[in-house]
Amino acid sequence: MHSEQRTFIAVKPDGVRRGLVGEIISRFEKKGFKLIAIKMLDVSQEQAEAHYAEHKGKPFFPRLIEYIQSGPIVAMVWKGYDVIAGARQLMGSTNPLDAQVGTIRADLALVKEYNVVHGSDCVESAEREINIYFKPEELCDEYENMAETVIEQLDEE
Ligand code: RTP
Ligand code: MG
Repeated sequence: MHSEQRTFIAVKPDGVRRGLVGEIISRFEKKGFKLIAIKMLDVSQEQAEAHYAEHKGKPFFPRLIEYIQSGPIVAMVWKGYDVIAGARQLMGSTNPLDAQVGTIRADLALVKEYNVVHGSDCVESAEREINIYFKPEELCDEYENMAETVIEQLDEE
């Protein structure tokens, strides 16, 4: 059985400024994940602190809060089988120098402080982060996604 999940993905302000929105979305689409919500927004102080609550008190926290508010982000919800781990695999390690070639961060970023993309790290963070940026009625899950259909068939066999 495959585990169907949702995850919160954001193109961070550096990714938006560098014109990488399409490139990053394309990698998730090509993998077969299903886009169920997307919007561009300026992150408020409250949203930034809620999003990164786990890092409060760390030396890089103030700069992280400033970074995520340094320009608009593109916030998204993606759905699919094992999408949390799958998305993090596509993104690569936090530090682009540790990320595998072929991942978003290895291919498109230089340093961990500007690593162009965010993805939730577990089911609980995913649900928490989705709720920071989206209302339930903003999620559009009522359409067929080819990859999803194929895996549903596999699970029925
Ligand atoms: P993200 O939450 O953005 O998807 O990244 P992640 O799980 O790979 O990394 P995490 O440990 O959650 O850190 C969140 C973001 O904070 C910045 N960071 N800076 N200066 C530093 O040592 C440092 N460590 C982390 C990165 O932008 C990282 O993505
Ligand atoms: Mg994280």
